[in-house]
Amino acid sequence: MKELKEYVRSIPDFPEPGIIFRDVTTILQDADGLALSIDGLRAEIKDLEYDLILGPESRGFIFGVPVAYAEHKPFIPVRKKGKLPCETVSMDYDLEYGKATIEIHKDAIKPGDRVVIVDDLIATGGTIEAITKLVESLGGEIVKIAFVMELEGLKGREKLAKYDIASLIKYE
Ligand code: PRP
Ligand code: ADE
Repeated sequence: MKELKEYVRSIPDFPEPGIIFRDVTTILQDADGLALSIDGLRAEIKDLEYDLILGPESRGFIFGVPVAYAEHKPFIPVRKKGKLPCETVSMDYDLEYGKATIEIHKDAIKPGDRVVIVDDLIATGGTIEAITKLVESLGGEIVKIAFVMELEGLKGREKLAKYDIASLIKYE
């Protein structure tokens, strides 16, 4: 069987000049790639005590939901602004290319909930930093953040230094 990294397709200058886009669709479209990614994320959290898994729209849903299902844990979606129908907390943040606002339903996290965050990729860490602030504003505790890919050169890990972070694949 191939290694997980071999399933990732890298596209130079997408969506802007200078960005190397790390494409997860080539992981997903191969049953072995999909299994390696989900099993790898599950292995990172298997010994933890936690209450729920949370993932950001949209690629965080792709990986977060199967992990939550397999671990029999609830999944909390973090959505881009204006998509969630009930009362939310929201936060603006910067990305490798662009800006966004994310929201979580206020009643999705209760004080004391132990939260695992799953996403496909950490670049600048802006998305996850915003999520940690929202989770903590609701009284949740982040116990682990697990990514499929990490773009080490963008130093997202430094922004999240106080958290336990794992990534299955690393790029310089
Ligand atoms: C991408 C990716 C991560 C985030 C990483 O999501 O899936 O969530 O950017 O970047 P950061 O570490 O600099 O915050 P994006 O907002 O592009 O949305 P998508 O998953 O819908 O493509
Ligand atoms: N999200 C932010 N930066 C990215 C990159 N270089 N490749 C894929 N997704 C990303």
